[in-house]
Amino acid sequence: MNMHSSAMAVASPLEKESAFATDVIAGLTHQPKYLSPKYFYDAAGSELFEQITVLPEYYPTRTELGILRARGGEIADIIPDGAALIEFGAGATTKVRLLLQQHDLGARLGAYVPVDISGDFLNGQAAELRRDYPRLKIHPVVADFTTPFDLPDDVKAMPKVGFFPGSTLGNFEPHEACAFLRSARAILGDGALLIIGIDLEKDEAVLRAAYNDAAGVTARFNLNLLVRINRELGANFDLSGFTHRSIYNRERYRIEMHLISRRAQTVRLLGRSITFRAGESIHTENSYKYSTDRFGALARGSGWTPLESWTDADNMFSVHALRAGETQGT
Ligand code: AVJ
Repeated sequence: MNMHSSAMAVASPLEKESAFATDVIAGLTHQPKYLSPKYFYDAAGSELFEQITVLPEYYPTRTELGILRARGGEIADIIPDGAALIEFGAGATTKVRLLLQQHDLGARLGAYVPVDISGDFLNGQAAELRRDYPRLKIHPVVADFTTPFDLPDDVKAMPKVGFFPGSTLGNFEPHEACAFLRSARAILGDGALLIIGIDLEKDEAVLRAAYNDAAGVTARFNLNLLVRINRELGANFDLSGFTHRSIYNRERYRIEMHLISRRAQTVRLLGRSITFRAGESIHTENSYKYSTDRFGALARGSGWTPLESWTDADNMFSVHALRAGETQGT
């Protein structure tokens, strides 16, 4: 299955048998070239993303926070007493706090289970939350939430409510989004709820500006992927040789981010030479946008029934509540 390991074994001494190395080689030797957006988030990339979330052009984060602030009471009301709230990819606790604060949810919950791949960050955030909610049971789980993981024994008997804010689902291809929703359905079990943030289709100029901000932060975020490859894999990307481009792909309802080679050039990476034509792209991210109907159809096709959804006054962003189980009728 691993077609890259044998080739890598004869490569340079710089090479690491890491998933990162394997994925980067696979993506940069593929035609067209691509890299996974999950690798944006090293320390510098995470910091740049935090800067993106407060840019004037980048509406998703502040709009979702606004929905959670304004409608968090209604969202909290559908969460049963004693439920375990399981957050997929829990970074900072800002969003969950907006739910816990409302209608006494912090005191009614059976447990909060933040799941994240970064253990240090997760445990730090859990410690801070414990200070403010000393009686809330918090069970951090260090896991890759895109693959099946075990829930802590203590919460297995509780009603389950998944929480997946941030429109992270937008980074998944439609078939991956479906697989994720099915896997969440399997992890959470019968009768579970899922509360999920989804970015909406909108005016293309608004979308384009959100991914091509005037201050150039998104460009730095995109280019940081090459900085990371240079540092961690010993490559020699010349950053001045690549430029950030984002476009809206209308047929596929997605923003695409690319790094475009400004000239013909060759980059050394783990004992290989990667050649670029002038104008050649590395496709670094897709950010899918949904209508409420198309997201509803995706959810129904993945073992969930849409219950309710909340949006802002300008219909920029949405938060959906889904119930595990197939739809009856239509
Ligand atoms: C973290 C995936 C929701 O798609 O809007 C922001 C990432 N990329 N600017 C998004 C991102 C460029 C973001 N998500």
